[in-house]
Amino acid sequence: MITLTDEQKRQLFHDGYIVLKGVVSDDLVEAGQARIKKAQKGENLSGATELTDLVNASGVTPILNEVMGQFDPPSRVQVGVIKQSGPKDFYSPLGYRERDLPYFGHGMHAEGLFTVGPPQQPAEGTPDEIYKRLIASGPRGDLGRSADVIGSNTDPLFQDPDMTLSVGSFTAFVIVPLNDQRTEGCGQTAVIPGGHHILESFYRWQYEQSGCIGPEGPGWPRFDYETPNRAGHIYLPRAVQEKLIELIGETPETTPDGRPWPRPTQILMEPGDAAITIFQMPHTGTRNEFGTESRKNMIFRIRNKSRQPDKVVSGVSDHPDRGQMGEWLEYEPGNDPFARSKQALTHMWQEWEGMQDIVAQESANLTPVDYSHVDV
Ligand SMILES: [Fe+2]
Repeated sequence: MITLTDEQKRQLFHDGYIVLKGVVSDDLVEAGQARIKKAQKGENLSGATELTDLVNASGVTPILNEVMGQFDPPSRVQVGVIKQSGPKDFYSPLGYRERDLPYFGHGMHAEGLFTVGPPQQPAEGTPDEIYKRLIASGPRGDLGRSADVIGSNTDPLFQDPDMTLSVGSFTAFVIVPLNDQRTEGCGQTAVIPGGHHILESFYRWQYEQSGCIGPEGPGWPRFDYETPNRAGHIYLPRAVQEKLIELIGETPETTPDGRPWPRPTQILMEPGDAAITIFQMPHTGTRNEFGTESRKNMIFRIRNKSRQPDKVVSGVSDHPDRGQMGEWLEYEPGNDPFARSKQALTHMWQEWEGMQDIVAQESANLTPVDYSHVDV
């Protein structure tokens, strides 16, 4: 059985992610690449076994079983292809033109958030009017402010009927590259090492204030009406952005309006590698400006089976407490899925069964993140 060394676990604890070299065999890589190559135009490859085998038949599964625990073998995968492109004029979900966002048009975000298509003309009206229009622009149309609303990314506006949780959650990402991404600027997934600790601390602070977690909870408005399109998604609250910039410790680049953004670290990998990332890690795709081919990352969303032993997780949903299209799932009496997910969001290593010794040893070395200055 292959397992992480204690040194690797320490790295995972502090950085929030780790790259595992050579854990996917050449045969598996080649089969995955061949499957993508022979895809018909527009074909959905998310259920292709040649791709799900990159986790199910590789060294990734035994490693994850040891460090995290049991999970449903993914039956589907996000086929994360980013074509080569120069900077573009369109407004990204952050509300800025793609070409104006630093660090290869990053869209750094917390996972599991409601998203709709960003207006491509500056939005008109009051913030309240823009809010109502945005939440009505998803696939279900205008339902008002309700937990039945889902985004164009299928994420519910709120996970729970009481509207106290607006972040979907799972336990780990696994990212398996099928092309060479060892040089920056070819569309890599990027993260902020240590950012998981900052985001988890914010979730915990929110929970302590009001029991609500995510956008529309304490210190986290959902939209920013002052971005160039007046309809930016706030994917990370201002207080978290500031802490991330502090953590990185260099002068940040800015958008033309002078707003600073934390510099992400591109995950450099090559075929055969896999990255494991904790759910709370702020992350983003990036522009494939300098690649010689499309960037191909197979992205799996894994949840520890203990969260909801009776539910099967597919590997693509970032909100598995609800159905893929936001359907309400049934839970037995006494099983509050949203309370369990709040617990997991605010105690991020609890579902990492093989990390417990390292967490106990290393937690003492962590600096607490102070949000006491943030307006509720
Ligand atoms: Fe994401």
